[in-house]
Amino acid sequence: MASIDDRNKAFWNELCGSTLARRLGIADDSAESLRKFDDWYFDFYPYLFDHIAFDRMAGRTVLEIGLGYGTVSGRLMQAGADYHGLDIAEGPVAMARHRAALLGKSANIQTGSALAIPFADATFDDVITIGCLHHTGDLARALTEVARVTRPGGSASIMVYSAVSYRQWMRAPMATWQRNARPEFDWTNADDRSRRAYDANLEGDAAPSTTFISPAEAESFLRRLYGSVTVTPRNVGDDFLPARLLPRALGRRLFERRLGLDLYINCAK
Ligand SMILES: C[S@@+](CC[C@H](N)C(=O)[O-])C[C@H]1O[C@@H](n2cnc3c(N)ncnc32)[C@H](O)[C@@H]1O
Repeated sequence: MASIDDRNKAFWNELCGSTLARRLGIADDSAESLRKFDDWYFDFYPYLFDHIAFDRMAGRTVLEIGLGYGTVSGRLMQAGADYHGLDIAEGPVAMARHRAALLGKSANIQTGSALAIPFADATFDDVITIGCLHHTGDLARALTEVARVTRPGGSASIMVYSAVSYRQWMRAPMATWQRNARPEFDWTNADDRSRRAYDANLEGDAAPSTTFISPAEAESFLRRLYGSVTVTPRNVGDDFLPARLLPRALGRRLFERRLGLDLYINCAK
């Protein structure tokens, strides 16, 4: 069987967000189409601004890992960061380079794996990685790699999927109860159905690898690598009935801190 890096390289070559882009009627990568995509993205995930300090990025040496459609990449470049981008697949790298060209920014954007980040120890002021590390097939190693390239005094903003979100409670209540009550690392790959519920391509295939982690597990693992760690659960989808009955912002506010799908982890070294 091909390595997990090779399988991710093939799967993610189709930009994640392609289904959304199709739904929004986006058929090209013009500046106007990308603005439409980005407006939707930041409107849907407004709390990104709480977890990524875009307004303090000017002049800082920043690494983003896992680029997708490049919305965060573009914003970091616009903010004046000395921007470095890394992704396992060619498609997201090409998109981030295209964005740099549209913005008239010089940036270093390359293919490579979060499992072996191609930079020396303590290179970056900030490492940003949203929705990526849980797909690498080795979340523990990816988190350790992120810490390795963060300089002392620097920061990391990480988003990974929660092992104790409402979706996990609905799918496997006993296992989720146990994991919540007694945190235990489970670095194994989720089954096909669970992976598809989070990430599927235009064909409906699930991402090759997805690992979940609880807030307590994330905190205890990362405290060994960083001086301070804050874990904030965010995001409820419309597969959560109580939230579906309410305006999205209110549903989120009521439920996400206990049951949110995504863990935003802010670390300072
Ligand atoms: C779900 S997308 C998230 C993209 C973007 N950060 C966002 O929030 O829309 C996951 C991204 O991680 C990348 N990725 C997956 N495995 C990787 C690895 N081992 N190293 C680097 N990037 C990886 C994929 O190619 C994809 O661009």
